[in-house]
Order: sequence, then structure tokens, then C-alpha cells
Amino acid sequence: MRLNTLLHATDAIHSETETAQDLRFLLGAGSPLGGARPKSAVSLADDRIAIAKFPKPDDTRNIAAGEILALTLAQQAGIQVAEHRLVSVGSQGVAVITRFDRVKNTRLPFISAASLLGLPHGEPGAYTMLADGIRQFGDDVAGDLRELWRRLIFSLLASNYDDHLRNHGFLMHQPGRWSLSPAYDLNPVPEIDRVRMSKTAITEEQQEPSLALALDAAARFGLKGTEAKKILRAVFTATSGWRKTGRQLRLKASTLDAYASAFEHPLRDEANRLLG
Ligand SMILES: Nc1ncnc2c1ncn2[C@@H]1O[C@H](COP(=O)(O)OP(=O)(O)OP(=O)(O)O)[C@@H](O)[C@H]1O
Ligand SMILES: [Mg+2]
Repeated sequence: MRLNTLLHATDAIHSETETAQDLRFLLGAGSPLGGARPKSAVSLADDRIAIAKFPKPDDTRNIAAGEILALTLAQQAGIQVAEHRLVSVGSQGVAVITRFDRVKNTRLPFISAASLLGLPHGEPGAYTMLADGIRQFGDDVAGDLRELWRRLIFSLLASNYDDHLRNHGFLMHQPGRWSLSPAYDLNPVPEIDRVRMSKTAITEEQQEPSLALALDAAARFGLKGTEAKKILRAVFTATSGWRKTGRQLRLKASTLDAYASAFEHPLRDEANRLLG
């Protein structure tokens, strides 16, 4: 991976000091992937392809570290996640996410949840709508509904406010049927930044997100109350250990402090109460 060179090139473009060589590097390594953050395709030592997500000059915290922390916690909570690792280049972090839509040289068809539902642009959708989509187009319907509910609970407890329906996706493993892709683009959002973002609603009617509401909606995901509580407990346990996991990932105390309000918040207290 030429992360150093690519990082230098993206920094140079943002500060408008790029050279022809910087541009050539990005042009050569660039990827057509969408999304808001600067990224590039990189090949790993074993020849698999990954996506490198770079910092932006106006970032107020280490976004890559937050994403890797969230992916690690989600995995601990039993969620299937994209393979990931954090590469530190000086004081900056680059999140390297292995592509899940490639099997050797072939490409698995991928669509976003927004495409699966045919959501018009600007229409936010809701988790229950996605559950109905899985019922209609899914391959392992029961398994994916359970997995989606687990992701919904994770998004509440880890303050993943970036959970719009292009950040959920589906892969075609079986002709004509869609399966949830591994989870990607999970971002814990500290309280200060939440005002600018709108989280995907639990149901079509929901205003304020709460765990009680998620539990009430569990039947739409094919879950009995006891199964739902078991999932809630697993996600609660994993996300409660966020600081320890962060330390194990060797994240700096100041980096972790910037994420504290994404994990310590009233919804966590609510989960604690519901679990008794
Ligand atoms: N591991 C992966 N394998 C294949 N495709 C992926 C993978 N991760 C992300 N993608 C695709 O690339 C797009 C952009 O990636 P990602 O969502 O991580 O970037 P972003 O810039 O953080 O997006 P956003 O605008 O939502 O903040 C995704 O919407 C998805 O379609
Ligand atoms: Mg995204």
C-alpha cells in the first residue's frame, strides 16, 4: 500500500498545493466509490482490494479511529462487519476496509438499502421499512431480520447517527435474492455533532428514538421479547466496554475522550434499566 503517498496527495489537494505527481497518484489509485469522505482503492499484501478512508482537514477528531472502534465493538456485539484495520501515519489515522463485494476476481452484485426499497432521493426511510424489504427480497429472511435489529440496537447504543439507508447494503449471493452485506461506515457521533444529523427512524411513525420503542418494534423483525432482550444485552455489554476496547486498539486517551458522549448517554441508561 502506498498510504503515505496517497495521504500526502489528498492533504496537498485540500491545501491547494498539489503537484502533478500528487494528482497522478490519486488518479491511478482512485475509486469510483461514493460517500462523503476522501477515499481510495488500495491493494493489500494478499492482493485483495480494500478501501482506504482518509482524514479531512476540517475533522475535529480522529474519524478513522472512531470508525475502527465502532466496527470492532459491533463485531464484539455479534454483528457481521467488514474486515477493517487502522493504519496510523504520523498523527493521522487511515481506516482500511477490505471490500466485501469481491470474491477472488469476481464482483458480487451490491445495492444499497435505499435502492432495495426504491426510496426517492431525500426520503429517509425507517428500519421497519427495511425489515419489510428483507421479507420481500431477502435470502435468509429470519437471519437477516435478526441481524438488522441487532444493527439497529447498536446504532442507538453507539450513537451511529450516520446510519442513512445508503450506509446499509445488500449482496446477491443467490440469484435474485438479496442478503445483508457486512456492516460498514459505522461512526460513533459525539453529542455536539448530532444536531446536524438525522438518524434513521426505528419505525415509520417514530419521532424520538428509544430502546423501549425498538423492543416494541421487535416483532416486525420476527423476534420474540426474550430473543430481543438477549440481543440487547449482548450489544449493551459490548458497547459498555468501549473504552477498554479502544485502549486495546491503542487509541490515545484524548482520541477516546472525544467519543465519550457517543457511548455514555441517556439511551445507555435506558438499556441498563430495561435489562434490570
Ligand atoms: N467494504 C466495502 N466493500 C464494498 N463496498 C463498500 C465497502 N465499504 C463501503 N462500500 C461502498 O462504498 C460507499 C462509500 O463508503 P463509505 O460509506 O464507507 O464512505 P463515506 O464517505 O464514509 O460515506 P458517507 O457519505 O455515508 O459518510 C458505501 O456507501 C458503499 O456503497
Ligand atoms: Mg457511507
